Amino acid sequence: MSEQAELIIGGKSYNFPILVGTENEKAIDIGKLRDTTGCITYDVGYKNTGVTKSAITYLDGEQGILSYRGYPIEQLAEKSNFLEVAYLLIYGELPTKAQYAEFDKRIDDHSMIHEDVKTILDGFPSYSHPMGVLSSLICSLTAFYPESLNPNASEKVINDSIIRLIAKMPTMVAWAYKKSKGRPVNYPIRSLEYCSNFMHMMFANPTEIYEVDPVVSDALNKLLILHADHEQNCSTSTVRIVGSSMASLYGSISAGINALWGPLHGGANQEVIEMLDAIMADGGDTKKWIAKAKDKNDSFRLMGFGHRVYKNFDPRARIIKKACDDILEKLGVNDPVLSIAKELEEAALKDEYFVERKLYPNVDFYSGIIYRALGIPTNMFTVMFALGRLPGWIAQWKELRETKEPIGRPRQVYVGHNSRNYVPMESR
Ligand code: ACO
Repeated sequence: MSEQAELIIGGKSYNFPILVGTENEKAIDIGKLRDTTGCITYDVGYKNTGVTKSAITYLDGEQGILSYRGYPIEQLAEKSNFLEVAYLLIYGELPTKAQYAEFDKRIDDHSMIHEDVKTILDGFPSYSHPMGVLSSLICSLTAFYPESLNPNASEKVINDSIIRLIAKMPTMVAWAYKKSKGRPVNYPIRSLEYCSNFMHMMFANPTEIYEVDPVVSDALNKLLILHADHEQNCSTSTVRIVGSSMASLYGSISAGINALWGPLHGGANQEVIEMLDAIMADGGDTKKWIAKAKDKNDSFRLMGFGHRVYKNFDPRARIIKKACDDILEKLGVNDPVLSIAKELEEAALKDEYFVERKLYPNVDFYSGIIYRALGIPTNMFTVMFALGRLPGWIAQWKELRETKEPIGRPRQVYVGHNSRNYVPMESR
């Protein structure tokens, strides 16, 4: 018999099975808890709640381990490219040469966007935050491809929706940027690889041939790979819970983009660079800002520090810190905020407050410095995160559908008024 967990309530004992994952992670299966005991669990912020069994990403926050489909993130970041990683996440295996060529071609084939999308884009004021624009444009795909709305569509229709999404997202991201600049959009170029094509759509002057520096496209590939999936985080859980109602792929991903937007999640990369700029403008006194972060009467937090699951180090932050040094050197960029970032990191890692709470730099502490060196403006950083996270969201949505998970519907402990009678307005 498998290992059991015993729970005693009011002197009565109940047994629950323990699930063991492939990396020996254990979870008490409380699926029958309410039926057998009348109780539910209380776990605000889902800090101890496993909502699914997933075969996509493995993460050990204590050891600082992250792998996609079993492949360590360090190897993928060094040796693979973003499209290959996207294929791996979505379909479960690294592609053969022929599979990759077919995938790449299909993405090229679908990278154009219906011209009517420009009308939607034109409706936004140029000062709109590009995350809001992106989530709206992604959701608008439901109108252009109504077959994507059918929850029981064939595998081919679902896969076509997936390919369209990966193909059109970079075009939409670049168009959201062009809109914010009041500039004409650039169309995708089939002969360019994914990241180079993206940089072309972002930065090409329509009257010139745009040369993409391989250092830039390599850096972008690395950043997107590092962000490609991160198991059941806030935005991914959002995608899964929206998808569990049988909502469309595009509707679910649009919801995920909105969840990612917040400063405690994907929005942190924008906040980090704004914080570093503010520290520099204030004279660069890192001690003063560390003290502010520790002061419980001050709402300031050291952005890019701390993580819900990594309590030793974030493996992505290690890769990014090194990549940041390399890229800045190769591009000959000297960004003064890099030394402020390093000083802050060094001071925080020695400070009792941060050590005690196991607060380390996360993936976003250095990513903004790289994005800035690539010429990507601050308000686009979170959009870049969304571009990277897309294959992970798709893989998680697909897995949820394939394993036929039920609709997500947490419970609550009600702490409001007991039943009371309605009082007419004039008597209140
Ligand atoms: N600066 C100062 N103190 C912090 C920080 C920080 N960045 N992060 C956590 N703390 C403190 C909290 O005040 C709390 O202290 P207390 O125990 O004295 O009350 C303790 O550390 C634990 O923090 P929680 O907020 O409870 O930790 P939680 O796991 O809920 O939050 C989070 C994790 C949201 C990432 C948090 O560390 C944070 O706000 N970091 C800054 C924002 C950030 O960088 N977000 C990006 C996360 S990575 C990503 O989404 C890709």
